[in-house]
Parts: sequence; structure tokens; C-alpha cells
Amino acid sequence: MSADKRFYITTPIYYVNGTPHIGHTYTSVVADTAVRWRRLKGHAAYFLTGTDEHGQKVLDKATERGMSPKDHCDDMVVHWKAMGTRFALSNDHFVRTTDPGHVACVKAVLMDLWERGEIYKDSYTGWYSTTAERFWTEKDLVDGKCPDTGQPVTKIEESNYFFRMGSYGQRLIDHIEANPDFILPEKRKNEVLGFLRKGLGDLCISRPKERMAWGIDLPFDTDFVTYVWFDALLNYLSVPGYLPGGDDDYLGTWPADYHLIGKDILTTHSVYWITMLMAMQVPLPKHIYAHGWWMSADGEKMSKSLGNAIDVNLLADEYGVCATRYFFLREIALGADGNFSYQGFQTRYNADLANDLGNLAHRALSMTSNWLGGLTPALEAPGELEADLRSVATQAVRDYAEGMDTLQFKAALDALWELVKAGNKYIDTSAPWALNKKGDTARLATVMRSVLELCNLVGGLLLPVMPAKMEELLGRIGRSVPQAEADVRAVLADEIEPMAALDDGVTLDLGDPLFPRFRKLPEAIAALFGEPDEAPEQPAKKAKAPKEPPPPTPEDAIGYDDFAKVRLQAGKILECRRHPEADKLLVVKVDVGEPEPRQIVAGVADVFAPEQLVGRTIVVVCNLKPVKLRGIWSNGMLLAASNESGVQDLVGAVCDPGAKVK
Ligand code: MSP
Repeated sequence: MSADKRFYITTPIYYVNGTPHIGHTYTSVVADTAVRWRRLKGHAAYFLTGTDEHGQKVLDKATERGMSPKDHCDDMVVHWKAMGTRFALSNDHFVRTTDPGHVACVKAVLMDLWERGEIYKDSYTGWYSTTAERFWTEKDLVDGKCPDTGQPVTKIEESNYFFRMGSYGQRLIDHIEANPDFILPEKRKNEVLGFLRKGLGDLCISRPKERMAWGIDLPFDTDFVTYVWFDALLNYLSVPGYLPGGDDDYLGTWPADYHLIGKDILTTHSVYWITMLMAMQVPLPKHIYAHGWWMSADGEKMSKSLGNAIDVNLLADEYGVCATRYFFLREIALGADGNFSYQGFQTRYNADLANDLGNLAHRALSMTSNWLGGLTPALEAPGELEADLRSVATQAVRDYAEGMDTLQFKAALDALWELVKAGNKYIDTSAPWALNKKGDTARLATVMRSVLELCNLVGGLLLPVMPAKMEELLGRIGRSVPQAEADVRAVLADEIEPMAALDDGVTLDLGDPLFPRFRKLPEAIAALFGEPDEAPEQPAKKAKAPKEPPPPTPEDAIGYDDFAKVRLQAGKILECRRHPEADKLLVVKVDVGEPEPRQIVAGVADVFAPEQLVGRTIVVVCNLKPVKLRGIWSNGMLLAASNESGVQDLVGAVCDPGAKVK
């Protein structure tokens, strides 16, 4: 495999002093999406994640639990591995810093650096922060406390071992300046340069066992253990199989293309790690990408003690793993901070997944099933509309690929959603219901084939983001994952045009909507805010009608003749605006299959913005006497589903305007 088709991405390895939260899941999902994308493109991509198990924090937690540190780690690692299974992480390896192979690598590196004079012993006085696990000088302190964590520090004088980090300061500055995309995003690069230009000191890389014994022994002085960061950072190389003086096999994986990290661990990665590599005479990684932080809805740092931490498993339970992954990638650009709110999550879910993508898929499948026998139709009569859609697709694929290649997932998804929206608009403009009504099967087949091709293309491209849901979508249109991946590769290589992949006559599987819409926050989430879900209990499923005796007749029962007097017809909403005189009313123009659209005044402005209704197919009572409502004629009535708290949705169906509803 050529070097440009090899890809290696890492996440930070997570401390096992707690269980995973939204920030950890975010980092891992981002890395997973990047690696899945490379694999989809046919690259040999390697994804490493794992746990950071040594050091003070972990020791403290183990002590608090009355367990040995190793037992504590063995117990906690289960949660971290479970996060991987739950969120479909496709890591090639899960490293633990207590793994014998890793320990051996750390010791060998230390020995090599010691023998080459890169490590020396000195006595040191400094302010030690247990929470940040590092020493600070007097001038670093803020109000006498740790500048990173704000926690108290202790003055400590002790002998320790130091790595000659300071001697690499200028070389590191030169490297960063010569490689402008080495540290991303740019503002992080500038932060690191600012830090380096103040002068770089040496790094204390040991802890005396009498103070903290939970770590890897220094191979040249077993009264000391290795500083947890010096140990942890080496995981990125120990797993590929690096050993000083060993063979070069590790270069099959190394150097890393991306070390994906949070912005809080920028210095350890771009300064400690890179100078370590310089001293080890090992090639440097290509990029260090620092992402932002998820904050609470009001911009506060999240923490369990503040009670504002987000339980990602709850998101996955209620909205699905794929929707959660999608949200992470679409909501914020990689590098920016994000404020998380459940309402914001649901709004994006409904708009992008239930409406845009879900609708596209459902319309493609249901219309083809209803009107074309549920088989992939042939592209019989392509015209200008199809050419336009193809050129939107070509551009979207290009932009999406560029974004995915460079970890700009938000930009990539923004570009792809232009195509999804264009697909829905194409359906509206092509009006397959009218083609069906006219009996124009050639055009109808062309339209439906085009939309199905779009589903295949979008489904394939989105596999790295939403693996399970897209596999489901592809399955519904009779396409396997390997087929869809091959289609994407062929499109990216310009071997086929986008939307020219499917075979004729493949059986489709309509199924339920892929992303069901949420009207209100799920009960388990609403309950977090102490707001019991006020939705009335779902009516119990209708029991099978007993054969004997006949079901009780409701008091307000009507006979069929009465029912037949009500003329219900399907209508497509063409226009919609607010009533100038009444806040609760919308004025809607509906095509009910008559020469002129009907004007109807409907009391649903509380629930829908006008633009949400345009294009929807609904059920209209067509033989109501026209009435004037606040000065505007209303000629008919829209059927809406309501409960005690008001209208929930309009009753609708996928069928031709004018079709009788019986
Ligand atoms: N063990 C070190 C990393 C060693 S890598 C050689 C560590 N672990 S951590 O578990 O504390 O954090 C791991 C990652 O989670 C960091 O990249 C951190 O930025 C990220 N996040 C923790 N909270 C976060 C948010 N609220 N939002 C986004 N990511 C954040 O640091």
C-alpha cells in the first residue's frame, strides 16, 4: 500500500478515574468517522484508542474504592470498552498503559534516552498540583493555585529525573513554522508558538515512589516511577511496535496522520510529545488536531458535581447511536466549542434526519412501492432536471470528500445536505404524483430512479458517519454495504458519474421511517428537568375485534351514509402564509386536484411555521361550506391530529392531490 494510502489516527487515551462522558465519546466518534472514511476510500487505515491507567488520579480513585490500582483499572476499563461497542467505534486496537508490551516500550525508550544523556538527575523545588499532576514554578501560579485546575498546590523539594526538553525548543518552533498545518486549528498553533517563545525548560519525567508508586519503574532507578504523561504519550508508538534500536516495522503504521486531542491537552502533545520524538530520532506525526469542548447549554463547563453532565447513553437510547454520531459531527466545526442542549439536539434531529434525509428516503421508497411495483425502475427519460441534479451531486461529492479528508466534518455534511435538500426539491418539482396520475410511467420511472440513486449515493457517503442506519437505508434499496462503498469509490475516482450505480428491477423494502420524528422531548429526557412528560398516554393498541358479541356501539355512532357525506381528499400544500389578523391562523393554498387550488384558513400557526407546510400532502374536508375567518375565505378544512394539549400534526399521506380518502 503506497504511503499516501496509509492512515493512522489516534484518540487520547482516557483516564480510568471515571466513566466516559460526552467529551470522550465526541473525540472517539470524530476519530472513528475519519478512519471509516479512509477505509471506505480503500486506504489501509489504523485507529488506536485506549486507556491511561497510571498516575496519581487513578491511584487516588483506586484508594477511594479500597481496591488495588490494577484491580480498579481492570474494573473501569470495561466501561471504556463498552463505549466503543455502543458507539460503533471501529478501533483496530485498544491499548492499556498497563499492557506488558507498552510497559516494555516505555522502559526501553527511557533506557535509551538515559544512555544517550537525554535524561539527567537533579534536585528540584516546585509547586506540585495533584490534580494536574505536574509541577509549576512560583510565577506560573494563579492566586497561589494551579493555573490549570484552580486547585491548591504543595511546595515540594525532591530529586527527580529530567528530560532535556528545553534543548529542542528552537527546533520545535522551526518545525511548526515550516509546517503550518502541523498544529490545527491555526489558533492552537499560535498558542503553542506563544508558549514556546517564552522559553522552554526541561521536563520532570519521574515521581519518587515514596510519594506516588503507581507507574512504570524507571529502568535505571527503581526508586522512581515514570511521569504519567511520559508513559501515556508513548502508547502512540508502542502499539505500532516501536523499540529503540529495533527494526523499522513500526514505520508501516507510523507516523500518525492525526493525533486527535482536546484543546486542554495541547501542550502535552505538541510540546512534550514532539520533543520526546525528536530526542528519540523518530519521524514526527503529520498533524495534531485539537478539538473544542462541549459545554452545557448556558456555556458552563460540564461536570458530574455540577449536575450538568450529559449522559450520551441516554441520547443513544432515545435517538439512536447514529443520530448521536451525526449530531456531534454536524453541530460544531472541529476545533470549536459547542453548547449542548437536548432541545437543540432534537431540533437538529428533526430537521436534518427526520425531515431532510428521512423524507428523501421515505418518499423514494414509498412512491416507487406504490406506483411502480416496488422494483428499481429504469432511467427511461432523463432530461434537464436530472442533469441539474447530477451536477449538484457532483459538486456535493467533491465538497464532501474534501471536508472528510481534512476532518472538516461539519463543512462536509453541510455540502451533502445541499444535495439531500436538492433531492427533495427535485421530487417537489417533478411532481411524481401528477406523473402517476397522468400515466406518464417513463417520466415517473426516471424520477423515482433518480431519487433512489441519490439515496444510494448519500447512503454510501454517510456510512462513516452513521454506519448502522446507512446500512439499513442501503438494504432497503437492495444495496449491500460493499456495493455502496464500491459505488462511492468509483464516483470519487471519476469512473462513474454520481447517480449511475443501481441495477434495474431490484426489489425495494419500504419499511418504517428511518428516523421517526419527535414531537416533544422523550420522557426520560424531559424527566431530567423535572418536567413530567404531559403527553397523554398512548391509547392501548386496539384489541382484535371479538367475533361475538358485536362491539359496543358508541353513543355518537353514525352510519356509513352519514360518513359518506363527508368528502375527504388528499391535497398538496402549495403556498402558506400567516393570517394578517390572527396569530393562530395560517392561510394555505392547497391543490386538491381541482383546476384551481383551494384557499383554507387553518388554526395551526402555533405548531407550524408556514414554510414547514409547503410541499406536504394532507387530508382535506372538501365539502364544508366556505366561511370567512377574520376577513379571509376558508374553503375546506385540513385534518389534524390533536390531543388535549393541541394540534400535533396534520394527517397526511403520500398520494396524488385530489385522491379520495375513504
Ligand atoms: N489521559 C489523558 C490523555 C493522555 S493521551 C496520551 C487525558 N484523559 S482524559 O480522560 O481526561 O481526557 C481525554 C479527552 O477527553 C481529552 O482530549 C479531553 O479534551 C476530552 N474531553 C474531556 N471533557 C471534554 C468535553 N467536555 N468536551 C470535549 N472533550 C473533552 O486527558
